[in-house]
Amino acid sequence: MKYATNSLESYWMPFTSNRDFKAHPRIFVRGEGVHYWNHEGGQVIDGSSGLFCCAAGHGRREIADAISNQIMELDYGPPFQSGHPAQFELARRVAALTPEGIDKVFFTNSGSESIDTAIKISLAYHRARGDGQRMRMVSRERAYHGVNIGGTSLSGLVKNREAFGVGMGGVAHMRHTWLAENRFTKGQPEHGAELAEDLERIASMYGPDTIAAVFIEPIAGSTGTLVPPVGYLERVREICDKHGILLVFDEVITGFGRTGSAFGAQSFNVKPDIMTMAKALTNGNQPMGAVAVDDTIYDTICDATSGAGIEFFHGYTYSGHPAACAAGIATMDIYEREGLFDRAAELSPYFLDAMFSLSDVASITDLRGYGMLAGFDLSPADQPPGVRGLEAQKKLFEAGLHIKMTGDSGIVAPPLVAEKEHIDEICGILRQVLSTF
Ligand SMILES: Cc1ncc(COP(=O)(O)O)c(C=O)c1O
Repeated sequence: MKYATNSLESYWMPFTSNRDFKAHPRIFVRGEGVHYWNHEGGQVIDGSSGLFCCAAGHGRREIADAISNQIMELDYGPPFQSGHPAQFELARRVAALTPEGIDKVFFTNSGSESIDTAIKISLAYHRARGDGQRMRMVSRERAYHGVNIGGTSLSGLVKNREAFGVGMGGVAHMRHTWLAENRFTKGQPEHGAELAEDLERIASMYGPDTIAAVFIEPIAGSTGTLVPPVGYLERVREICDKHGILLVFDEVITGFGRTGSAFGAQSFNVKPDIMTMAKALTNGNQPMGAVAVDDTIYDTICDATSGAGIEFFHGYTYSGHPAACAAGIATMDIYEREGLFDRAAELSPYFLDAMFSLSDVASITDLRGYGMLAGFDLSPADQPPGVRGLEAQKKLFEAGLHIKMTGDSGIVAPPLVAEKEHIDEICGILRQVLSTF
């Protein structure tokens, strides 16, 4: 389907400098493999898997066919008090990938909805146990947990919060884990495990039995790839166990092979109680998110309701939409058949070496990376935060590379089907453009 773009005026674009964009549009019209094509016919290599979604690359025929077949068979089924086969099958496939014991899967339509769902599951779980005073949530500075009001309140990025009032009450933030002494560390940094003690401080300040859950991105992605220091996640887990606090891993970016395992939980060998996911769940081909929970959480919430009553008063009209589930199953088939999680682990050293070869570019003040996810900081050079980042993103696009920029940080996450030559191309364009900054 081709749509003529006669006017850019009506569409209010999300997380976009609308006025600047409409003066200098960057429009994607086609995607195939690891490439996009723009509206002028130029080829653009996809350095961020779209927005960390398209792990299996663009234009996957198997997924398109699965979606279209599903719609012709059953286009929509009401998700409350009725089901359809694809929901159960996708939940089974996801549960097979999560750590043992995390076997129950709730469907949403985005990462943001997954986060707000996880907040509500945490509250409902404690209430079902007779621990309903546990209402506080903990997250971290520089965290990104989506944009619904719960996720905005957990967020640790000032721009995502400042215009939106006080948000949900009862959220405390641990410090982020960026430390100057860890600059240019490939993999997990050595320093910073002690930052996990912030959770202990928050617990002793508010009372440990008032805290429901702590939300952590195993690798803080959107802020520019903050890899957890050695021992940090383990210590957070210990403190949660000590105080009966649920540990939620937000795996919206780190899920489905990005870290070289199915999830960050397995790469870092730390088991959370709840996992949120989205993006690569359907290879970005349908909007979909999921929350996977430990069986004991599901059992506790269900057992607290007697008889045939509804146990959890939460859900979306499009929870487990047939087309999204079909896309998810086809995506899981590709991941399995093509061994993409192992491929990510194999390709990671080459990718990280290529990224770290940019250490000598003067405008780059830090580089970080793990698995198939890397981040760099661009010197703001006396400009307000984000000005040079946007300029860089535009110049990179003109030079044929798409990457996600957050402020002055770039996040590089090629599709897991990328070849070494694609990584060379991405890093070559980064060098060429960033050297001019
Ligand atoms: C860690 C994390 N959580 C939540 C979200 C929100 O996901 P969505 O944009 O699908 O609502 C994102 C999006 O980038 C994310 O990176």
